Amino acid sequence: MSATETKSMTKRETGTVVLEATGLKRHYPVARGLLRAPAMVKALDGASFTVKAGQTLAVVGESGCGKSTLARLVSLIEEPTEGELVIDGIDTGNLGEHGKRELRCTVQMVFQNPYGSLNPRKKVGDILEEPLIVNTSLPAAERRARVAEVMAKVGLRPDHYARYPHMFSGGQRQRIAIARALMLNPSIVVADEPVSALDISIQAQVLNLMMDLQDELGVAYLFISHDLGVVRHIATDVMVMYLGKPVESGPKDVIFEAPLHPYTQALMAATPQVEAEHRAERKPLTGELPSPLNPPPGCTFHKRCPIAQPRCSAEVPQLRPLAGRHVACHFAEQNLS
Ligand SMILES: Nc1ncnc2c1ncn2[C@@H]1O[C@H](COP(=O)(O)OP(=O)(O)O)[C@@H](O)[C@H]1O
Ligand SMILES: [Mg+2]
Repeated sequence: MSATETKSMTKRETGTVVLEATGLKRHYPVARGLLRAPAMVKALDGASFTVKAGQTLAVVGESGCGKSTLARLVSLIEEPTEGELVIDGIDTGNLGEHGKRELRCTVQMVFQNPYGSLNPRKKVGDILEEPLIVNTSLPAAERRARVAEVMAKVGLRPDHYARYPHMFSGGQRQRIAIARALMLNPSIVVADEPVSALDISIQAQVLNLMMDLQDELGVAYLFISHDLGVVRHIATDVMVMYLGKPVESGPKDVIFEAPLHPYTQALMAATPQVEAEHRAERKPLTGELPSPLNPPPGCTFHKRCPIAQPRCSAEVPQLRPLAGRHVACHFAEQNLS
């Protein structure tokens, strides 16, 4: 990490592309017994998107659609099976270990479970100082000053420094996790269901904190959630995923005002705080999410889709531009009003 990056936090220029993914895939081989060849789980099967400084791309979809897999690829924990990932202008495909380690400072993660992600035997101050010890050559006094600065930013008091994680509530622990993610002044924070384990009243506080920090620092979020209510609160752009593939993506307001993919519509119909006027007309989701080991042919959503036609089980719909967003449905025009 360069000297300028370890200085105290300054705002990044909003709108610069900090993350660009093209055709990202991650397939996992799974054993099927001794005599059969392993099958492939297409956990992520072709996602393209960009994230800009100061903005939030929210990735939404049911459990099992590949959100956490995407998070692991973007945070360089795993490598893609196929596709390109450019972070802060650097192509991650031909990076050595050293380059990867540097880039890992640029992409930080916040996980769902604030109880499991913080070391219970360490004081909060030490948890926050650790990334600085590992990744920078800052002297101790400057490290402490930086910890104090970030603690204040996330609303922790100076006397919290010497406390242990178990002495905090869930919401406060998530503040600590956010503080830890910000220690190295990252350009992207990947947050995988960061408020899903919290009470509704606390969720809004943590989301508001994340948004305030974004305004102040210009950090970009890849924000993962299965909850459209949460997504509506925080997103700039939305990408709806189904069985490893984006089915609809675009600006939040466009998607929430007039979703065109039948899957997006079904998700909205199932979310109480979203779109009350139209909810009655729309069919909620029926049937089960198919196994990604054996996805249906054609459009993988066709068996659950209220407007499916014979073409849908034969031909895979590609993402295409329509009415201000991208949508992968042969018959999306039917949902234009
Ligand atoms: N390491 C792995 N090996 C095999 N299958 C996996 C692995 N990780 C995830 N999967 C499968 O990939 C699919 C997507 O998982 P995941 O990314 O965790 O979805 P989500 O976070 O949206 O719930 C699931 O069917 C899951 O079982
Ligand atoms: Mg997940």
